[in-house]
Amino acid sequence: MLVASPLREIACMLGVRGLARLSVRLGWKYLLRVPALFVHADRRRAGHDDPHDDSFLVGETPFDTAEAICRRVGLRPEDVFLDAGCGRGKMVFFARLWSGCQAIGVDALETYVRVGEALGVEGVRFVQGDFAEMDLRGVTVLYVHGPNFSERTWEALSRRFADLAPGARVVTVGHACPELTPEHEERLTFSWGRSTVRYYRAIR
Ligand SMILES: C[S@@+](CC[C@H](N)C(=O)[O-])C[C@H]1O[C@@H](n2cnc3c(N)ncnc32)[C@H](O)[C@@H]1O
Repeated sequence: MLVASPLREIACMLGVRGLARLSVRLGWKYLLRVPALFVHADRRRAGHDDPHDDSFLVGETPFDTAEAICRRVGLRPEDVFLDAGCGRGKMVFFARLWSGCQAIGVDALETYVRVGEALGVEGVRFVQGDFAEMDLRGVTVLYVHGPNFSERTWEALSRRFADLAPGARVVTVGHACPELTPEHEERLTFSWGRSTVRYYRAIR
């Protein structure tokens, strides 16, 4: 199947406590917040207004793919999960509700962070900021879904990997990280099609 299936996503939603309700609340919050309208303004405010930088294209991790990733990682309540470039935060909410871990979403764009925080889910936090400056100390699972990120964006991200403790896991979508040790890779389905998901372990 090439694109995300709404039926598989709904089935997954119904199997995780609190996820269906959260999804309805999230959808409601974005009913009148159309990305085509706010992304442009938020990028300008955050100083990311280079029109040739595709790092801000909209794309999401469907819940059934999120479940496959969390299962593969073996996400546990004692983990600290961080989605670098969280967008609306679907992966952040899923990680928390599925495993009970602490979950953090980081995004440069104000609307994503403000709306995510306004949903007030216990154990979930959103932080507005640039990858280049984010603090990864204490993070045990880092998720980066960036098939459209520019080389510059990936370079800024990989400099931050040095903050991860040995043994921390890194999951990337659409990018291979030569500086980390790969453990597994697989093709999974996202909102716009299929991509390679790579699982790494940080070493120092
Ligand atoms: C493809 S979306 C990923 C959405 C989410 N991670 C998911 O899987 O559902 C990429 C996100 O990265 C954010 N982003 C791009 N460059 C960034 C940067 N330099 N600092 C922080 N966030 C950035 C964009 O605003 C966008 O929301």
